[in-house]
Amino acid sequence: MKVAGTICEVRAALASAQGSVGLVPTMGALHRGHLALLAAARSDCDLVVASVFVNPAQFGAGEDLAAYPRNEAGDLRALEEVGADLAFLPEASELYPPGFDTWVEVGGAAQGLEGDARPGHFRGVATVCLKLFGIVRPDRAYFGQKDAQQAAVVAQLIRDLQLGIELRVVPTVRDEDGLALSSRNAYLSAEERSAALALPRALDAGAEAHRAGRDPAAAARAILAGEPRLTPDYVEVARWNGSPVLAAAVRAGSTRLIDNVVLEGERA
Ligand code: PAJ
Repeated sequence: MKVAGTICEVRAALASAQGSVGLVPTMGALHRGHLALLAAARSDCDLVVASVFVNPAQFGAGEDLAAYPRNEAGDLRALEEVGADLAFLPEASELYPPGFDTWVEVGGAAQGLEGDARPGHFRGVATVCLKLFGIVRPDRAYFGQKDAQQAAVVAQLIRDLQLGIELRVVPTVRDEDGLALSSRNAYLSAEERSAALALPRALDAGAEAHRAGRDPAAAARAILAGEPRLTPDYVEVARWNGSPVLAAAVRAGSTRLIDNVVLEGERA
């Protein structure tokens, strides 16, 4: 596996690339959720590129940019093991040099839910994704259903800017107890983690209510109301690409967790 820190090194590594290129953008602290995206890319593409970049532009003031878990050595080992061809780990100054001031504002999918809770977040995500797409020029890009609204925002970015990239959305990978894997789970105390299990339980209850013809959000809220250690932020049905998804965000202590379940069809 090649490791690149600069855009020049990525372009040099890909200059003679033959066949299809798959890109898996990440912020590192890789877990089995990320590895599922990498495995999908590995099975679909001739060349697999992974980026590891904690993107400052998508963190709001007072969010966890400084504390965000970092594990460069572990990430490189994991990428090597999963058979990535190229790992791109730029410094922030490589992607945001002095004077950088061009931003991508996605409408539609970026509005509501996470868009309301984290102003500027999707602008930062869309900007860095477009930059990574321009640097790597992938045929396919891999995103997780775990961040369903983000996947919808990237779908809109690709569609609206006619980037000609195929978006693949990979199902959410969960721990055995149902909690969706997330780099932010590392912040949870043992007690917060056990409280956090009410989130997937609430989404399951919502999906079951939907199948029974009842209101999924109300059913999920009722389960969350029974767990005083969690503070719900939102519980809502979204229809980013037509099919309904029950999405929720909660706080466990100072950690914010998001998760979702697809109510109809295969994925958001
Ligand atoms: P990060 O949180 O590191 O996630 C990278 C990718 O892994 C995202 O597409 C996310 O949806 C996916 N992912 C995370 N946990 C998952 C799980 N449990 N199951 C399946 N997929 C999972 O999302 C970002 O980084 C950033 O916003 C990024 C797109 C890299 C832009 O900076």
